[in-house]
Amino acid sequence: MSHTSTQVILVNRPEGVPTPSDFEIRSQPVPDPDEGEVVVANAYISLDPAMRGWMRDARSYVPPVGLGEVMRAGAVGRVLASRDPNFVEGDHVSGLLGVQSIACVPGKGLQKVDPTLAPLSAYLGVLGMPAVTAYFGLLEIGALAAGDTVLISGAAGAVGSMVGQIAKLKGARAVGIAGGPDKCRHLVEELGFDAAIDYKHDDVRERIKATCPDRVNVYFDNVGGELLNTALTQLAMRARVVICGAISQYNYVDKVEGPSNYMALLVSRARMEGFVVFDYAKRYGEALQQLGAWLAAGDLSYRETVIEGVENFADAFAKLFSGEKLGKLVLKVS
Ligand SMILES: NC(=O)c1ccc[n+]([C@@H]2O[C@H](COP(=O)([O-])OP(=O)(O)OC[C@H]3O[C@@H](n4cnc5c(N)ncnc54)[C@H](OP(=O)(O)O)[C@@H]3O)[C@@H](O)[C@H]2O)c1
Repeated sequence: MSHTSTQVILVNRPEGVPTPSDFEIRSQPVPDPDEGEVVVANAYISLDPAMRGWMRDARSYVPPVGLGEVMRAGAVGRVLASRDPNFVEGDHVSGLLGVQSIACVPGKGLQKVDPTLAPLSAYLGVLGMPAVTAYFGLLEIGALAAGDTVLISGAAGAVGSMVGQIAKLKGARAVGIAGGPDKCRHLVEELGFDAAIDYKHDDVRERIKATCPDRVNVYFDNVGGELLNTALTQLAMRARVVICGAISQYNYVDKVEGPSNYMALLVSRARMEGFVVFDYAKRYGEALQQLGAWLAAGDLSYRETVIEGVENFADAFAKLFSGEKLGKLVLKVS
């Protein structure tokens, strides 16, 4: 077997939004797999905000990507060769396969996926990590109850779009915050949110008051910064603030903006809690079974923005921060 992989290598610690000069595109021969390893031809590579953190040399819940290493990423693809007894050539798998066209990795981190149940890319979004994050973040950390009002930032994204739909399926009200009228229309008309707030054009505080007349029981925060600060002023008694992410802060580590309105937690006897989806690894099956059933029943809608070509990684990744995408952002290996 002789294959060549196109790889995206991290060569600089980016400052601000990463640019193409922070990465090198390299062609590398793919080694024959050792005992326990699997060679996978990636089909779709997941572009996740968390990857911005992995580019930084700082303590986090996983070690940073080293300079000179293939950029870490989730991906889904087809097995070309296997020396792990759990996989055979032709299987479809997902896992941390990296930003590269072909990966040679240990089989123990891979999960089989079934392309007859859903398109392969769905396993990076509606049937993958973002949806599982939404599921556990809302139901476990957010302790959602029927009748709650759930306010969601980053609502037109991979995680946020699932949070709102799960909230509705569980008998709650869902109000989404997103950038621009098109995304707001999408939330209400296609995803069934009760209302949407355009943080780029609306007076967010006034719109939360108008759309959440009984105040906010669960604030599911993907954005942090000023939106978090504003949402805190509108909490209901015993509200839960789920700190899922803070994308507005990811490029500005030296001047991270904290919530000055935190005393609202005291007044509302509220709770603010962060979480990392990996903590629920043993329960992914439970979430995926439920998400799969909802999807099969037509109860979940999803959108993807697909950019072609591993070599376009940096420009595609920047769309997470500019918002020039809808739903789950993926890189298609051409
Ligand atoms: N805790 C966990 O285990 C976990 C797991 C997965 C993801 N996350 C977090 O969940 C969040 C959402 O991730 P995702 O994969 O679903 O990404 P995403 O929402 O699909 O993409 C990011 C979106 O964030 C919005 N955004 C970017 N900069 C912004 C800013 N300055 N102010 C307001 N909105 C901004 C943009 O939408 P607009 O056009 O609406 O601005 C953009 O489309 C991220 O913070 C991520 O780190 C956490």
